[in-house]
Amino acid sequence: MNRHAYFEDLAEQDDPLAFKPEQAATVERFRVRLGDLRGKRVFEPGCGAGPLTTLLADWVGPGGHVLALDSSARMVARCKAAVAGLTEVQVLQARAEDAILVAGSWDLVLCFRFYPHLEDADLFLRRCQSALAPGGELVVANLEGSRELNRLHARLPGVRDDAMPSGEALRCQLEARGWEVTEVIDEPQEFFLRAHPA
Ligand SMILES: C[S@@+](CC[C@H](N)C(=O)[O-])C[C@H]1O[C@@H](n2cnc3c(N)ncnc32)[C@H](O)[C@@H]1O
Repeated sequence: MNRHAYFEDLAEQDDPLAFKPEQAATVERFRVRLGDLRGKRVFEPGCGAGPLTTLLADWVGPGGHVLALDSSARMVARCKAAVAGLTEVQVLQARAEDAILVAGSWDLVLCFRFYPHLEDADLFLRRCQSALAPGGELVVANLEGSRELNRLHARLPGVRDDAMPSGEALRCQLEARGWEVTEVIDEPQEFFLRAHPA
């Protein structure tokens, strides 16, 4: 099974990748790490069925905007249903690498539970650099560390080759590509990296 088929199948499940009650504290810690998003313009590639997208709509509030995007048509349909009526959110189907983003128009590119699935991380990162507004940031985050995520992927057909770099490896990759990395956490229950164009 390839990655695309894997996510299309996953999208047919009852509540794909919904947050579990026992993850509430981890999600809250993540919200605090992100900081105040009120009024911000957030690009969320790989939004899936939108468990985070609905929260982001609340976090950016009435003056903010969220563009949620996914390459899976079924995930996009699930996400659109999840955010129906939330005027702050737009949901599109596209590969993140191919997304057409107005230059200098995003305050935050948020790769949540998404980064290891990119087909072409270099291309994606170049696009993010030009899409970010002055002061804008890239955040790569997961609800587990890179080692734990890679152990999980190893058991899943379709994503077993989708390797999450360690925090330090991703820091090096980003710095080599013109980013300044300001925060890196890679611990068993958390991955959080924050960067901005250098
Ligand atoms: C692990 S899921 C996470 C979804 C969501 N972020 C969440 O936390 O529930 C990864 C998502 O990325 C999407 N995806 C994979 N490769 C992609 C790409 N190149 N561009 C856009 N979306 C992609 C998949 O279809 C899937 O919905």
